[in-house]
Amino acid sequence: MNYCSHIIGTGSYLPEKILTNVALAKTVDTTDEWIVERTGIRQRHIAKDGETTADLAFQAAEKALEAAGLKGSDLDLIIVATTTPDNTFPSTATKVQAMLDMDGGAAFDVQAVCSGFIYGLSIADNFIRAGQAKNILVIGAEVFSHIIDWKDRSTCVLFGDGAGAVVVQAHESDESNKTGVLSTHLHSDGKLRDLLYTDGGPGSNSSVGHVRMLGREIFRHAVTKLAAVVDEALKANNLTQSDIDWLVPHQANKRILDSTAKKLGLSKNQVVITVDKHANTSAASVPLALDTAVRDGRIQKGQLVLMEAMGGGLTWGAALVRW
Ligand code: UT7
Repeated sequence: MNYCSHIIGTGSYLPEKILTNVALAKTVDTTDEWIVERTGIRQRHIAKDGETTADLAFQAAEKALEAAGLKGSDLDLIIVATTTPDNTFPSTATKVQAMLDMDGGAAFDVQAVCSGFIYGLSIADNFIRAGQAKNILVIGAEVFSHIIDWKDRSTCVLFGDGAGAVVVQAHESDESNKTGVLSTHLHSDGKLRDLLYTDGGPGSNSSVGHVRMLGREIFRHAVTKLAAVVDEALKANNLTQSDIDWLVPHQANKRILDSTAKKLGLSKNQVVITVDKHANTSAASVPLALDTAVRDGRIQKGQLVLMEAMGGGLTWGAALVRW
């Protein structure tokens, strides 16, 4: 039998604490005007002391499972995309597996920074197409507040904490009427790794790393690479820009979202925007935005949803889904 992957439930979670631009401007040399004008960000959520990536991931997972009508024990795989795992090892995914009381199956983390959710969805889709899993939980979860240099105004205003999750299920594929995940497209270019990185970190480096970014360079790469991978995804499915109902992009900067939408000929109200309220939540941003638009009824059955992201590595990718 040939299988395809359907997203049958979404969920998300944001920590209670909100940090507004105005509040942030009291601790670092910036202004609400600068942040809004250059990024579109107005506020971000910040995890409370002791609240970890696994905690956020678990909350999002429970909501996605509830929406899918499944329990943890129904899952055969958990993939957590994160840059801020609770520990160097074991994986955050295994911690979530225990929290969900899932006895069998497997769980592992994926590290592709802001593209992590697209990478995770792609891996899940391939497991399903290979007939190796039936119900997979893909989570993007981050506490970027832990790796921010709160004295560096060029990065600390940009990021926030949060988690988003989807349940992906194997369905029999119908070649004459393709639904679910149509295709995924992943890329990376390790020669560009110095544009966005942490200056330390776990494992082979004993210091705690903080985010460092050449913002203008990243911006330039984001605009061109995202346009190219979107084009690649449409061509692979014999679709055109006018077939897209919803763009659910990685939420890094509203100016990047506007530029991508313009290139695709999409109207502003076809783009799901959460960057104003969530800021950049790295691997969590796409599933957070997706869950927002599913729950408020914007995304409807039969519609074509395009997701894309770019992040450190550099990594980038896209996924096309017929809802
Ligand atoms: O999720 C991974 C992908 N990440 C991204 O896609 C991020 C891509 N990059 C960006 O979004 C933008 O480059 C930024 C928002 C990070 C920066 O915006 P920009 O328009 O590229 O500004 P810039 O870095 O060129 O800085 C312009 C000016 C500088 O001052 P001078 O040298 O012109 O006097 C900065 O020092 O703005 C200054 N600046 C700030 N001023 C007030 C930088 N950060 C701030 C700040 N508040 N927070």
